[in-house]
Amino acid sequence: MAESADLVAQLPSDRLHESPDELDPLPSQAHTDASLRLAIDLAERIAASRESRAALATECADQPSSEPCVEALLDGFAPRAFRRPLSQAERDRLSATGPSDEVDETFTVLVARLLSSPALTFHHWSSPPTPYDVASRIAYTTTGGPPDDVLVGAASRDELSTPTQIRAQVTRLLESPWGRRRVADFFRYWLRLDAVPVPSRRASERLGLDAGELQRSALAEVDRFVEQMVFTRSAEFRELITSPLVYPEDDALAGLYGTAVWHDGDPPVEAPHHRGLLGRVALLLSQADRTSPIMRGIRLRERLLCQEIEPPDLEIIDSRVDELGAIDRTEHSTREATERLTGVTPCYSCHQLINPPGFVFESFDPLGAYRTAEVVYDETGREIARHAVDTTVADLRIGPEAKSASRFDDVVDLVADQAMAHVCVADSLVEFYFAHEVEACATADVVDAIAGSQSFVDIIVTAIATEEMLR
Ligand code: HEC
Repeated sequence: MAESADLVAQLPSDRLHESPDELDPLPSQAHTDASLRLAIDLAERIAASRESRAALATECADQPSSEPCVEALLDGFAPRAFRRPLSQAERDRLSATGPSDEVDETFTVLVARLLSSPALTFHHWSSPPTPYDVASRIAYTTTGGPPDDVLVGAASRDELSTPTQIRAQVTRLLESPWGRRRVADFFRYWLRLDAVPVPSRRASERLGLDAGELQRSALAEVDRFVEQMVFTRSAEFRELITSPLVYPEDDALAGLYGTAVWHDGDPPVEAPHHRGLLGRVALLLSQADRTSPIMRGIRLRERLLCQEIEPPDLEIIDSRVDELGAIDRTEHSTREATERLTGVTPCYSCHQLINPPGFVFESFDPLGAYRTAEVVYDETGREIARHAVDTTVADLRIGPEAKSASRFDDVVDLVADQAMAHVCVADSLVEFYFAHEVEACATADVVDAIAGSQSFVDIIVTAIATEEMLR
């Protein structure tokens, strides 16, 4: 595929229709032409290499256009490509090219036809679905790839027709390398980790760290945390939100967590201040050389609670900033500056929801390290002021009751038990795995699994292995 990159790039992208899971429009001439060119190019490359021919079928290694090779392709490679056995009519049509004296021609034409077939490209779904349709749906949903031999075997024995059978297959595939990678992708999607900024260069340099390196390392640590929690420790949702365990694999990240470096196989390392997903350095990084309680508060609401807050007209922020004039940072902490800026009408109507959860994160500096004082530096990196950090808030407004909090820990515990957070993860799971919007109440089983302290693996299985698979 790498060698055919130019042709791959010519494939028109799949534009999504208004309704999220329809393609618009169905294959155009441009799709057909581009996939045919790609299929022919790939078939020619495969035909030219003994090793590649043997990979499709051993019978094709030395005699690519012989009858045994054609039969082997139709019995082995074709059902794999179509994710189902071929009908007799399909076999007849595909073998119509027949064996040829031309060394490579029969082989190349047949492989090109298989690779450009709609049955390879499109996921067919009859109603009611065949066992092979169900096998494909289970596989692509859980792993992002085609069904493996076990699934195909189960389909051939008609063992994919009950919820229990489907649950067992989903559970098995979730543990596979592809299933695990998709779980990591789910967390990247849910927590919007692609929006994690490269942290402040100035703050990084003060510690002798490379900002880009730190961003990469912090993101990789989220993947390890998820892998360890979900698959090694069979954690429930609560533990994902509250666990004090961290997995820094380099000195820089371990330094920010205030712990030793962790290596695969080591006993867990604890960072009591950095609990759960919210306490990951990646989620605390700030693009500027000071924290933004506003952005941290918004992230908590948007990601963990799935609450969207409309951004205001930028002009009203600018005019408020002009009106207030520069705030002397040696006099006022970031929290105080934020309160002064947003403590007036109309700002306060939104910022009374945004700021309090953000202020609780003031115990983390712009690179995510725990702190008890906010240090202000001048342009040259010289310390010019120090403010005590104040993380006490009177009204968090997370959940149905007004709650106060004195530190980050209080927010962590509150989020772990919050029905709104449970609904948010459940909806996000269905959105991610099925790529469509969630209808109200469609995720009641998943929410129950979260509230009922089931393991996160079981929660994901409940989200995927629904009756929808059989309809
Ligand atoms: C309708 C709700 C709403 C109102 C009203 C509102 N804001 Fe905001 N504010 C937001 C949201 C949402 C964001 C985050 C925007 C984003 O995602 O970039 C934000 C971001 C900000 C930021 C940027 C923070 C950062 O670190 O980048 C500042 C500063 C700010 N608001 C100040 C104000 C001020 C001052 C007012 C009043 C004049 C105000 N806001 C009124 C919702 C509001």
